[in-house]
Amino acid sequence: MKTKRISDKIEKALNEQMTREAYQSQVYLSYASWAEVNSFPGIATFLYGHMQEEREHMFKFLKYINDRGGETKIEAIKAPPENPKNVEDCLQKILKHEIENSKQIDKIVNLSHEEKDWATFNFAQWFVKEQIEEETLINEIIDKYTLASNEKDNNSNLYDLDRDLASASQHATIPQEEKL
Ligand SMILES: [Fe+2]
Ligand SMILES: [Fe+2]
Repeated sequence: MKTKRISDKIEKALNEQMTREAYQSQVYLSYASWAEVNSFPGIATFLYGHMQEEREHMFKFLKYINDRGGETKIEAIKAPPENPKNVEDCLQKILKHEIENSKQIDKIVNLSHEEKDWATFNFAQWFVKEQIEEETLINEIIDKYTLASNEKDNNSNLYDLDRDLASASQHATIPQEEKL
């Protein structure tokens, strides 16, 4: 049994975020399956990949809570939302989910700052950076989609987009890491 180094309030907030990351993973899982069923195997591959990323985020929260002497509570994960209407809707919805998640991470940063819990503040910074990356990544894919759909030639651009996404990186370069 470790000495508890986080407050009850922080423990609760971290637990809620852990469940939220699991929910994010479910959202990617359901959208990936939707894309697969609707004949976009590349997009599905990308989204399945991202499902794993969110699962890893969930696990980071679990490990942090337990390592700091807190206790992880595995709760029910709410059902993902309805299927998207089309690829554009899918991408826009994902972006909305990511922005909402960023806001929740910011709340943990605020709380740890209020409590002068610098260990949690430091831990949360990893997620602040991760969320910049995730929002950038999805925005870049939306840009690609816009290009593909604006210059449609018998849907071949959409075909290319789908093919490219099969091997697309799960990471984007954020301004802090940009090399000239
Ligand atoms: Fe995440
Ligand atoms: Fe994410």
